Amino acid sequence: MIGDYLWWQTGIIYQIYPRSYQDSNGDGLGDLAGIRRRLDYLQKLGVTAVWLSPIYPSPMHDFGYDVANYTDIHPIFGTMADFDALLADAHERGLKLILDLVPNHTSDEHAWFQESRRSRTNPKRDWYIWRDPAPDGGPPNNWLSFFGGPAWTFDEATGQYYLHQFVTQQPELNYRHPDVLPAMLDNMRFWLDKGVDGFRVDVIWLMMKDELLRDEPPNPGWDSVDPHGSLNHIYTQSVPGIHDLIRQMRGVLDEYDERMMVGEIYLPFDELMAYYGRSQDECHMPFNFHLIANRNWQATAVRELVEAYEAALPPNGWPNWVLGNHDQHRIATRVGLAQARVANMLLLTLRGTPTTYYGEEIGMEDGHIPPEFVQDPPAVNQPEIAHIVGRDPERTPMQWDASPHAGFTTAAAQPWLPAAANFSTRNVAQQENEATSMLNLYRALTALRRAEPALMVGDYATVETAVADIFAYRRTHPGADSFLVVLNFGQGTHRLDVGDVGETAVIVVATDMVRHGPVTLSDLSVRPNEGLILRISSL
Ligand code: GLC
Repeated sequence: MIGDYLWWQTGIIYQIYPRSYQDSNGDGLGDLAGIRRRLDYLQKLGVTAVWLSPIYPSPMHDFGYDVANYTDIHPIFGTMADFDALLADAHERGLKLILDLVPNHTSDEHAWFQESRRSRTNPKRDWYIWRDPAPDGGPPNNWLSFFGGPAWTFDEATGQYYLHQFVTQQPELNYRHPDVLPAMLDNMRFWLDKGVDGFRVDVIWLMMKDELLRDEPPNPGWDSVDPHGSLNHIYTQSVPGIHDLIRQMRGVLDEYDERMMVGEIYLPFDELMAYYGRSQDECHMPFNFHLIANRNWQATAVRELVEAYEAALPPNGWPNWVLGNHDQHRIATRVGLAQARVANMLLLTLRGTPTTYYGEEIGMEDGHIPPEFVQDPPAVNQPEIAHIVGRDPERTPMQWDASPHAGFTTAAAQPWLPAAANFSTRNVAQQENEATSMLNLYRALTALRRAEPALMVGDYATVETAVADIFAYRRTHPGADSFLVVLNFGQGTHRLDVGDVGETAVIVVATDMVRHGPVTLSDLSVRPNEGLILRISSL
């Protein structure tokens, strides 16, 4: 802790997709024992908290986001003893552990839904959202699944439809029923009692739906690619009542010491900020996905979004930044390898908690998924747009070394997804030995951020450079050295005059991991795709 800042403010979060990180038993699926073996790596990487995508029992129709039991471990990932050992080892190393909480829906194999579907009069019937068919026998309204097709499935046995905005096997809970939230809060307490440090909460902004289940209007801005975008989701997203729900979830975290909740929310800034809560009593951090949503990787566009985010933050709202996750094409694929270095420098020098998706530290790219391996439901359900909406490519095995399957599993095993083709040259072992590798750049960035109050918690201010391809900013903190960050998003070489910031400065980290030493700020040369962090000595 520095000053009054908490671990999730000063820290660096690293997301692990457990199926793909490290297999320890040769079944081709990553597991908890595998992750535990990699704690040395994580510690050396300089991250301070690990978020695990779901590890609960699940039929895996949505790879664990269909939870059949919230308070146990899926056997493919190990046992509760494996979990306890991982948590203890992580804590011993000073690493926090964050679990994925999936409260919006359960698996259809969850005991609650098994009961709910038994009869219309079952006491758990209204724990889920059931409705009679429309007069023509079709679904009760026009709502759509994110994964293609209607958001309703007909249940023959009881003659009603149930709601699911993801796969059919993910029925949505009804948070208007008074018993549902308390049951979910107990699931949270189960893990908090064990010492888990917090939750990433899945699709938190979808948890409430319109009470009248009204049809959603068309979306005039639809790009006609992903059918789910054809409607304006005013009755399924950010529906009144949601904030009260989140406040109650936050209340549970506040029963404990320093626990944290980060909410998955894809919304424009003005709407996103509501999820901090009027008096900071909702999400500690609503995820800021705008570096992902913004498809325009240019200095001016990124600068504008950083400034807009900074301006929109409520007082005391702690910022955060994300480059990628298990639902998004990888940053190195989106912006290219050279700019992926710039992106990591940006992520680790902006004001606010960074979250890194596994593999971003070595520049992992989307893998090519041969047709027989395509497994992700949106891709399977919508083959014509699979290349856009399919998420298998960003979930390929972590690239540890050049051995078969990238060292993710044993040579004889069949990994659940094939390692990306470039694993023999782009992997941790290779980059360990290369002083200028992206891995070593990432480590230098985390080390600097953790050592320097200005980078960890300091203020942010844009610095004008008059060059369109350059985004520059300053980070300052009272009584500490300040830093100038200069990022070249383009292919040109530039000479900048940033003499207003100071006379001289010292390059402490450069994206090429070579440049260092003093420079004159009135005549600062910046090379193509180059990012520089300069220490400004206080005068
Ligand atoms: C979230 C998860 C995604 C999952 C969906 C349904 O968006 O990140 O992977 O498919 O929720 O749970």
